[in-house]
Amino acid sequence: MADMVLGSITNFFVYETAKSVVVKSWTVGIINRVAQLLIILYFICWVFLHEKAYQDRDTGIESTVMTKVKGLGTLNDQVVDVADYVSPPQGSSTFCIITKMIITANQTQGRCPESEKRFSCSTDANCTDRSDAHLANGMLTGRCLNNDSSDGQCEIQGWCPAENDQQRVNPMKEVENFTILIKNSIRFPRFNVSRGSIDSELTPSYMKTCNYDAVENTNCPIFKVGYILDQTNQTIIIETGGEIGINIAWKCNLDHDEKNCKPQFSFTRLDTESKVSKGYNFRFAKYYKSAAGSEYRTLHKAYAIRFEIIVSGNAGKFSTVPFMINFVAALTSVGLAAVFCDLILLNFLKGADVYKAKKFEEVSEVIQSPGDKLHKSSQMSIKSLVKRSNDSGNFSIGQQEATRNVNQNDI
Ligand SMILES: *[C@@H]1O[C@H](CO)[C@@H](O)[C@H](O)[C@H]1NC(C)=O
Repeated sequence: MADMVLGSITNFFVYETAKSVVVKSWTVGIINRVAQLLIILYFICWVFLHEKAYQDRDTGIESTVMTKVKGLGTLNDQVVDVADYVSPPQGSSTFCIITKMIITANQTQGRCPESEKRFSCSTDANCTDRSDAHLANGMLTGRCLNNDSSDGQCEIQGWCPAENDQQRVNPMKEVENFTILIKNSIRFPRFNVSRGSIDSELTPSYMKTCNYDAVENTNCPIFKVGYILDQTNQTIIIETGGEIGINIAWKCNLDHDEKNCKPQFSFTRLDTESKVSKGYNFRFAKYYKSAAGSEYRTLHKAYAIRFEIIVSGNAGKFSTVPFMINFVAALTSVGLAAVFCDLILLNFLKGADVYKAKKFEEVSEVIQSPGDKLHKSSQMSIKSLVKRSNDSGNFSIGQQEATRNVNQNDI
């Protein structure tokens, strides 16, 4: 019993190391070194230098955006200012600049002819039980308003007169000279770093006159609408309305000075253009009461450019844990070259059979006399060796055949 315990303890405290076969072949030697070099270069250049895998990363950026639009324009022969054309007025990260407006003034509750062409009629029957009734400007009464058998329009009940949005209205061209001030503050909570898009070194006099452009005035937080539309090739948007995205990207390497952590701006059109539904518009109304106490309203159909400010970013800083993980990964990956070289050595190279013979040793069963302790132990060790060579994970096509050849050679 004590012998067995002692035996298993001595069996446990051993060190095993793999036996190597050194192949002195220029071909495989060069392939091996080139493969190792490529793997090392990949890790140094891409993983470490480009992807900065040695850094701890914070992608959970916290951000707030404030905006302020400035400029004067003319809409429907009226001079309009910010309070007229920006909606909603709070200066959030999503806002609209109205560029075209169809105004229907003095609407009151009552009955009147529908303005849409699709609701033309010749008899009352054309105005009842219509499946597109929800597209009318009011509830269809079922009457056809036609004088003297010529084609007329269905009658509606609701806000009258009905809006005619087919009329031509000039858009506000001055919008291209409007400016948007963007104030973006961000924080990377993991590293407790806060940054703002307005550089503290800017002078008030510069701020008064500057306009952002990607070449010279990258620090200026004031954007001309015309510049943004040019960047996205979307000048038609003034006519139809649409959505423009202003992307602010913060990519910060906090191993360097925080001051170098600056936002990058880019502009895209967000809504996809389709032939069926072009652009962007919405309606709103202003309500009034006459001296006599009856209510009336002015309906506005507004075509607008909707700006959406999207903030994204990540920050990285050196940290030992990701560094060690990637460093060890780099070292072990160099071993991948061996797998590749084995594949070539054992299958495609001239004399592959000889290499195979050297690499895979096969030992036949040893015939033993009973009670011979020495033989028994040697057989055990050989058996385990054979097992290991099968498990080694090296690729070899037709390994069985090769080992059989070896046997024949040996005999
Ligand atoms: C925009 O401003 C420039 C320079 O002040 C001016 O020449 C141009 O006419 C303006 N554009 C519009 C549409 O008003």
